[in-house]
Amino acid sequence: MTPPLVLGIETSCDDTACAVLDGGGRILASVVSSQLAAHRPYGGVVPEIASREHLSNWPVVSAEALARAGVSMADVDLVAATRGPGLVGALLVGLSIGKAVAFALGRPFHAVHHLEGHLFSPFLPPPSEPGPAAIPPARFVGLVVSGGHTSLFGVEDGEVATLAETRDDAMGEVFDKVGKRLGLPYPQGPKVDELAEQGDPAAHRLPVKPAADELFFSYSGLKSQALLEIEKLERKLGPLDLADGAEPPREVLNLLAGFRAAAVGQILDRLEKLHRRQPIGLLAVSGGVAANRLLRRELPAWTAERGIELRLVPLAWSGDNAAMIAHAALLRHRRGSEGDPFAAEAESRIPL
Ligand code: KG4
Ligand code: ZN
Repeated sequence: MTPPLVLGIETSCDDTACAVLDGGGRILASVVSSQLAAHRPYGGVVPEIASREHLSNWPVVSAEALARAGVSMADVDLVAATRGPGLVGALLVGLSIGKAVAFALGRPFHAVHHLEGHLFSPFLPPPSEPGPAAIPPARFVGLVVSGGHTSLFGVEDGEVATLAETRDDAMGEVFDKVGKRLGLPYPQGPKVDELAEQGDPAAHRLPVKPAADELFFSYSGLKSQALLEIEKLERKLGPLDLADGAEPPREVLNLLAGFRAAAVGQILDRLEKLHRRQPIGLLAVSGGVAANRLLRRELPAWTAERGIELRLVPLAWSGDNAAMIAHAALLRHRRGSEGDPFAAEAESRIPL
């Protein structure tokens, strides 16, 4: 085990997560406790419930992480917690616990931006090949696709510049909304992806709107269009409700396949534009939507054709987790950062 031992805490939304990494970026333990069951009756995440769940889950989640790592809290050298963006009440739980632990142990504390965690997560080792984390190159382009963000970042010597963002909805968000319209339970993204696998995108094509000469993303148009197409299908087939796990009609599978192809197509369109402007050397892709099966097939092909090195986040670390938060803090520590003041506040919206 290489020092420093890093404890990571992530409570920005509906997952209570704790991880322990060593100084080489080896993931000694990563525990994520999902609150899905608590929120399911409401069809989405209820902030108040999320905060309460974090409080009650933390003792079990942290004890489990420390036990799996074979260490005790007193062994921890660095403490990191997510400070935002996210649900303020939920963030406050993890952030306050992190500060308290760091204060009690007399260790440095890092208040990490959630997207900073995602951004560097493609360098984490997959659980199947445990070992040290890869060293991020001085320069790379990061694509973060999640339920709240669709962003391109340029990273240079640890400095992060935002190259593009979504002007409206995030990619994961529209997967969730389209799935919700069909009666699927939250989070709908993975299920929509699964159903799209069974459809034929050519049978129900939705357009990929190019963004003139700009790089920004926009998903609300695609969402409206998909919802409109569902309405049209309902006029033909009757009300569509996939909640009961019934076999969806072929037309619905084709529509979801067309929707997914257009959503992924927009990512490739913007990457192409960026690459023409400033050739990409390494592309690091992360966030919950990085689990999307089509995206995971298309990106290796697209990058290989252009001689771009690709780092796709290991599936285990694509969704929210605390290993990525501990990892971001470890990278800061390597860059010589001494940590953040205990006064660091939780914030629902903060730029990276
Ligand atoms: O990064 P993440 O766990 O949380 C945020 O920071 O938002 O991302 C969650 C998002 C949700 O919108 C979820 O539906 C979406 O990622 N997602 C997917 C897939 N798996 C998760 N969207 C499309 N295809 C998937 N396979
Ligand atoms: Zn996230």
